[in-house]
Amino acid sequence: MEKLFRFLVTGLAMSSMMTLQAENVPDAFHNRGQWEEMSISYVNVHIGLEAPFSVLHISDTHLTEAYPDESENKRAISKDRTATFGGLQADALARSLNWADRYCDFVVHTGDMIDYQSEANYDLVKKYSGENRILCVGNHEFSPEMWLSEIPESKTEQYKSYTRDEIDRVYKIDSKFQSRVVNGVNFVAIDNVYGTVTPAQVELFDKELAKGLPIVLCMHVPFFSDDMWRANVKYWARGGAKFRDAGIPQPSGDYLAQQSDKTTKEFISRLKNETFLKAILAGHIHFSYQERFSPTANQYVAGPNFLYTGTEILFD
Ligand SMILES: [Fe+2]
Repeated sequence: MEKLFRFLVTGLAMSSMMTLQAENVPDAFHNRGQWEEMSISYVNVHIGLEAPFSVLHISDTHLTEAYPDESENKRAISKDRTATFGGLQADALARSLNWADRYCDFVVHTGDMIDYQSEANYDLVKKYSGENRILCVGNHEFSPEMWLSEIPESKTEQYKSYTRDEIDRVYKIDSKFQSRVVNGVNFVAIDNVYGTVTPAQVELFDKELAKGLPIVLCMHVPFFSDDMWRANVKYWARGGAKFRDAGIPQPSGDYLAQQSDKTTKEFISRLKNETFLKAILAGHIHFSYQERFSPTANQYVAGPNFLYTGTEILFD
């Protein structure tokens, strides 16, 4: 009975949420043409495949829903963060996946599909999960209530462990480590949402290497280079100056973690010589960025999906 009641309440809340979202999309914008729905860029990854295919790479949708019967904190955060991201994120995700269904063979989402944990966000994740999708976690997947969370966020494995099972259940993934072979290419997705990887992940990665297939590494936080770090600091330093100094800003946060965590540092330097590695897909920084990572692989960082951004990656 309680289950039925919960189902009915959720159903009602879901339908009012859907109305709300539809109302959020201005008519002139909602009715735009089919090629005008997305901001797409194209890249090519040459592997020497017999059968070419394409992947839509999206990242950082930052869904900000909460049902009326969810906690006061979640509703307050929903209001605040919907204003931050514009309120069209669910539409952006729906259109991205529709685009992928029409024009691509596979979708890789490199994390932060949700902005924080809520039943309403989870229902959208479930609605848009599917067979031909690889979903990575981002740092926001592990946030119960952002700055209002009972336990303040600490960038540790332990902090993620409090809600990992819940996320894995909703996303139907093993968020720490996934591998999926698509047309002979091994897509390996790892949780590196605070910049670092664990010895257990490295061990599993080595097992994937032993399969001898080309590998595409999918994860939330890019492997920063000095150049990418400089761009990141320039973008995120609110009130920062115009570009006048070409010096590399002092590493902090994720970049410092990648330089100081022994396991991660060694993993990155070993990957640079790994010829099976053909591409790295990441997100997190909210701007599009591409650069050479190693002799065999480029790193592609997708722009923000909350602004209808996606990258079609053509593998041949
Ligand atoms: Fe992120």
